[in-house]
Amino acid sequence: MRALYRIDIMTLFPDTVGDVLSESILGRAQERDYLRIETHQIRNYTVNKQRQVDDYPYGGGHGAILQADPLYRCWEHLISQAEPDVRPHTIFLSPCGKTFTQADARRLAWEHSHLILVCGHYEGIDQRFVDACVDEEISLGDFVLTGGEIAAMAVADAVSRLVPGVLSDPECFENESHWNNTLEYPQYSRPEIWHGMAVPEVLLEGNHASVERWRRKQSLLRTRERRPDLFAKLDLSSKEDQALLAELDKEQSRPTLPDKVICRKACEGDFPVMEGIAADARRYLHSHGVDQWGGPIPYPGRADFLADLSRGELYVLLCGDEIGAFFTLTTEPDPNYAAITDGKWASEEPYATIHRSAVAARWRGTGLADKMVQEAERIAWNAGIHWLRADTHKKNKPMQALLRRHNLQYRGNVLVSVQEGHDPRRVAYEKRIKRPKERRK
Ligand SMILES: C[S@@+](CC[C@H](N)C(=O)[O-])C[C@H]1O[C@@H](n2cnc3c(N)ncnc32)[C@H](O)[C@@H]1O
Repeated sequence: MRALYRIDIMTLFPDTVGDVLSESILGRAQERDYLRIETHQIRNYTVNKQRQVDDYPYGGGHGAILQADPLYRCWEHLISQAEPDVRPHTIFLSPCGKTFTQADARRLAWEHSHLILVCGHYEGIDQRFVDACVDEEISLGDFVLTGGEIAAMAVADAVSRLVPGVLSDPECFENESHWNNTLEYPQYSRPEIWHGMAVPEVLLEGNHASVERWRRKQSLLRTRERRPDLFAKLDLSSKEDQALLAELDKEQSRPTLPDKVICRKACEGDFPVMEGIAADARRYLHSHGVDQWGGPIPYPGRADFLADLSRGELYVLLCGDEIGAFFTLTTEPDPNYAAITDGKWASEEPYATIHRSAVAARWRGTGLADKMVQEAERIAWNAGIHWLRADTHKKNKPMQALLRRHNLQYRGNVLVSVQEGHDPRRVAYEKRIKRPKERRK
C-alpha cells in the first residue's frame, strides 16, 4: 500500500477549487493514489433552513463574518473521517498568518500526512473557531484576497508536489528556486536561436561539469541581484562558490570611461565585436519588454553594417583598444520621417540621423552613450549639417532619456520598417546642433 497524503479543503466554492487541483501532475498523483485532495462545502453543515453561514460582526463594522458553528461541524466531520492514528493538521488561510514559504511547504509535506485547509470569506471568520480548531495560520503574502480559496490552492499545490512519489525524482524540486535559499538559473529550450537570441553556448557543448558551474553562477547572480535577503543567508564558503563570486565581481565591476574615447569609422574587421554588442543589446531590450530590434533575423546584422559601411556612415567608439559602442550617422533623408504624425519637425533643412546605435554591456552606464551623441553632433556639424534627428521605441526609456539629456525634443510619431509581426511605431526627436563654440560654453 502506498502512503496516501490527504488534503481536505473547507470552502464555500468547492467546485472551483476541486477543478484546479485535479489537473495535470496533481490529477495524475491522485489517480495513482499518492494523494487525495477533497473539497467540502461549508454550507452543507448549517442547521438553518436558508443554509446561511454568515452574520454581522459584533461591535459593528462592514460586511459579514463566517460563523463558527458551520465551520466547526464541517471540521469535526473531517476529523472523524481521519485515519485512526493520524491527527490532521488544521490551517486557516489568512492575511494575518505567517507568510508561506517553500520551507513551510516542505515541513507540511514531510511532517504531516493529513491537512485541513480552511478558507475564509466575507470579512473573515469567527475567532472562536480559530482558537478551538486551528493549528496554524498561513498567509499568501501581504495583500488581501476576497476569499481563502486561491491561498488554499497555492498551499495545496506547493505541498502536494513535495509529497514523495508525486514528482518522478526529488531532483525535480531540489534544483528549484527557494529550495536552498537560491533562485533558479535561467532555462532554455529549442530552437537554439529564437528571434535572434541565442542559447548560451555552454549549454550546447555537452560538458556536464561546465553546465553545472554555469548554472550555479547564474543562480548566485540572480539571487544576489533580486533577493539580497536570501543571498545573505547563503553559506558561500566553499572554494567553488568563492571562485564564482570573484568572477561575478570582476564581470560586474563597471570600468571608468577613459579620458580619451576615440571615434573612428568602422571597418569590416570590427564586425564580429559589433555583432556581439548588437546581440547583447537585443537581449537587453527584450528583457526590458522593448520590441525594438525583434525578429527572427538578427538586427542590426552584418548586412546592415555592410550597407552603412559602404556609405561611410558607420562609426565605432574606442575605449582604449576596445570597441565600446557603434552607431550609424546618416545624412540620407529618411522617407519614414516625412510621414510624421501627432506633431511636426521644426526644420526642413538637411539633417543627420542616428540609427542602429548600441553600447557594449560592460560600458553601459559609464557615459559612453553621451559621448556617442556628442560625436554624432560633431560629425554632422563638420559636414555642414545643423540638425540632428533620431527615433526610438516608445518603451525604450534609456534612449529617450539620453536624447532628452542632449536637448533633442520630441516631435511626434513615425512608423519604421521592421520585421513582420514586430512593432513599427517609434517616437521621433530632433534638435538644432549648436556651433562648436557655443557648445564649449
Ligand atoms: C476579505 S478577506 C478578510 C480580510 C480580513 N478582514 C483582514 O483584514 O484581515 C476574506 C478571506 O480571504 C482570505 N485571505 C485574504 N487574504 C489572504 C492572504 N493574503 N492569504 C491567505 N488568505 C487570505 C482569508 O481566508 C480571509 O478570511
